[in-house]
Amino acid sequence: MKINRIIMMIVGCLALFALPVSAETPLLEELMRKYTFPLIFLSLLGGVLTVGYLYVTGLLPKVIFKSWEWIDERFALHRYISLAKREYYSVVYTLLPATGRTMPQSHTERYNVKAVWYWYPFYSLGGLSFFAYIVLTITGIYLGFYYVPDGEFVEDPETGEMTSGAYQSMELIMTQVTFGYIIRAVHHWSAHFMVASVFLHMMRVYFVGAYRNPREVNWILGSILLMVTIFFGYTGYLLPWDELGFAAGSIGLEMATSIPAMGPLMAQIVFGGTQLTGDTITRMYWLHIFVLPLVGTILIIIHMALVWIQGEAEPH
Ligand code: HEM
Repeated sequence: MKINRIIMMIVGCLALFALPVSAETPLLEELMRKYTFPLIFLSLLGGVLTVGYLYVTGLLPKVIFKSWEWIDERFALHRYISLAKREYYSVVYTLLPATGRTMPQSHTERYNVKAVWYWYPFYSLGGLSFFAYIVLTITGIYLGFYYVPDGEFVEDPETGEMTSGAYQSMELIMTQVTFGYIIRAVHHWSAHFMVASVFLHMMRVYFVGAYRNPREVNWILGSILLMVTIFFGYTGYLLPWDELGFAAGSIGLEMATSIPAMGPLMAQIVFGGTQLTGDTITRMYWLHIFVLPLVGTILIIIHMALVWIQGEAEPH
């Protein structure tokens, strides 16, 4: 009863807050602009509080078991899990009976070295890059609700300045959208953080010699991931279509067109033409929110699966 009342109170408060502030803006748009972030935050908070409550009252195992039972009854998941486990261990133990999962044996395993290497903290850099990627995905989804990929310049009737729809949508995010500027800042700094951590991760891999047999394929995949990361940064930098973005676009376009023979084709593929136009932003947007995330996510999954299969290389 008590819980019901609390839920009703929260819903009531939200309904009050959800009243539109201006008559001109459609209700749904106003609600989205103002309350998407608070709702996500409240849902997460609600989730954490619920789990905490269940944990404290000792009901958590029962709830997990009941939920699992509900799902398993419908999808027979336990059969697929045991099948996958059987297959996995049959492959691992047939090929590598002595070593278990790690292939080949790491340095410490082979020589039974009891050592704590002082560069172990650098082994977290790949994981940190992955963490930054997740943060970028979440904040990017939020920004995507409001960003408009419109690169055509039009004269602002009030100020007489030339601006684009893309730039105006960025202004909206920075000034009107609840927590918009924070989310944009988190997206911005996570992008810098990811570029730095991916690069340092690559240096760690190089200096401990982890790129050698049998991890050559992962080194090559990693090199492609580095390019994907940099390209993510570049396409994102152009999206606000402000002076900085436009200048960076000009430099990139010059570089692309200066490639002998292939130049115009490269400019066409990456910039949507040999001039910077509204099409450039459409192209950058599609690369930034679809092509690169697709390629990047697939490569990261394969990259990390290979680390799982091959194990971590110890410093030699
Ligand atoms: C999106 C970028 C990347 C992500 C998310 C990522 C993620 C990871 C993770 C989580 C690991 C295991 C933990 C660790 O060693 O830090 C790893 C290992 C590895 N990564 Fe990356 N990585 C990325 C980019 C790169 C780059 C740029 C290279 C090199 C060109 C690279 C080459 C390797 C290699 C060879 C290993 C195996 C290292 C070992 O066994 O000690 N990765 N990566």
